[in-house]
Amino acid sequence: MSKNRNLHAAKRAKNDEFYTQRQDIEAELKHYKDHFKGKTVYCNCDDPNVSEFTRYFQRNFERLGLKRLISTCYKNQRADLFSSHDSETAIMLDYRGDLNRNREADPKEIEVTNLKGNGDFRSPESIRLLKQSDIVVTNPPFSLFREYVAQLIEYDKKFVVIGNKNVVTYKEIFPLIKNNKIWVGHTPMSKDLLFDVPEEIAEEMKATKKEGSSYRIIDGVLKGRSQSIWFTNLDHKKRNQPLDLSFRYESMGGGGTTPITTTTMPLRWTRP
Ligand SMILES: C[S@@+](CC[C@H](N)C(=O)[O-])C[C@H]1O[C@@H](n2cnc3c(N)ncnc32)[C@H](O)[C@@H]1O
Repeated sequence: MSKNRNLHAAKRAKNDEFYTQRQDIEAELKHYKDHFKGKTVYCNCDDPNVSEFTRYFQRNFERLGLKRLISTCYKNQRADLFSSHDSETAIMLDYRGDLNRNREADPKEIEVTNLKGNGDFRSPESIRLLKQSDIVVTNPPFSLFREYVAQLIEYDKKFVVIGNKNVVTYKEIFPLIKNNKIWVGHTPMSKDLLFDVPEEIAEEMKATKKEGSSYRIIDGVLKGRSQSIWFTNLDHKKRNQPLDLSFRYESMGGGGTTPITTTTMPLRWTRP
C-alpha cells in the first residue's frame, strides 16, 4: 500500500471509532418496541464490554420480549472503554435472558466466547450469526457503510443503524431509499448526534479541529460530532403520519377563502 493510501486508511479507521451514546439509542429505539417481540437481535460492530447498544438490549431484554441477543466486536477483546484493535481475535456475547428470573443479567447467563476470526461483519463466522438473527441494530463503521447495508439487504434482514447523512447521495444507497427499501429513523435529521471518542482521538481533535463543528465539550467531556442519522427498514409511527400539504387562508375581515396573493386584509390560516 502506498504511503498516501496508508494515511487515508488510518484516517478512515479513526473516523470509525465514534461510540453511540445511551440517550440517543434510547430515544430512537423506543419507537420500535413492538418489532422486537420474540426476535433475535444482532449487534455486529459492538464490543460487548463497552457498547451501549449491547447494554440497551441486555437491560431491556424482558421488556421487549426478546428471544436472543448476540453481540460481536472487531479485532479486540480488551475490557477497557474503547477498542484499540490490537488483538486479531474478537469476542462474542450470547444472551438468552434472565433465565433464573432474579431480574439481573448474571455472568452465568451471559455467554462470552472467543470468535475464531477477527469479527469482521463480512467474515463467514459473522455471517453465520447474521443468518440466525432477525434484526440488526448498531452504528457500523462509517467507511464501510455501503458494504454494510448491501449485506443486510442481501440477507434480507431488518435493521436500525446509524449512518452519515451524506450516504443518501451514494449510488448504492439512493435507489434503496427511492424504492422504499430503507428510510430515515424517528430521530429528526436536524438532531445533533454526539459520540464518545477514544482519548487519543479526543486529544487530537482538541489540537487540530474546531470546537462546535467537529466536537463539543459537554460537562467537560469531548464529544465527537458527525452528520449522522438513523436508517431503518422497520416501520415507525412518524413514517405513517399524513403530511400537511395544504392550508386554507381566510381573510379576517370577512368569510370565504381568499388567496394570499390578492388580499390586503390581515390573514389567518386554518388546517382544512
Ligand atoms: C462507529 S463505531 C461504533 C461502535 C459501536 N457500534 C457503537 O455504536 O458504540 C464502528 C465500530 O465498528 C468496528 N468495525 C470496524 N470495522 C469493522 C468490520 N469490518 N467489521 C465489524 N466491525 C468493524 C469498529 O471497531 C468500531 O468499533
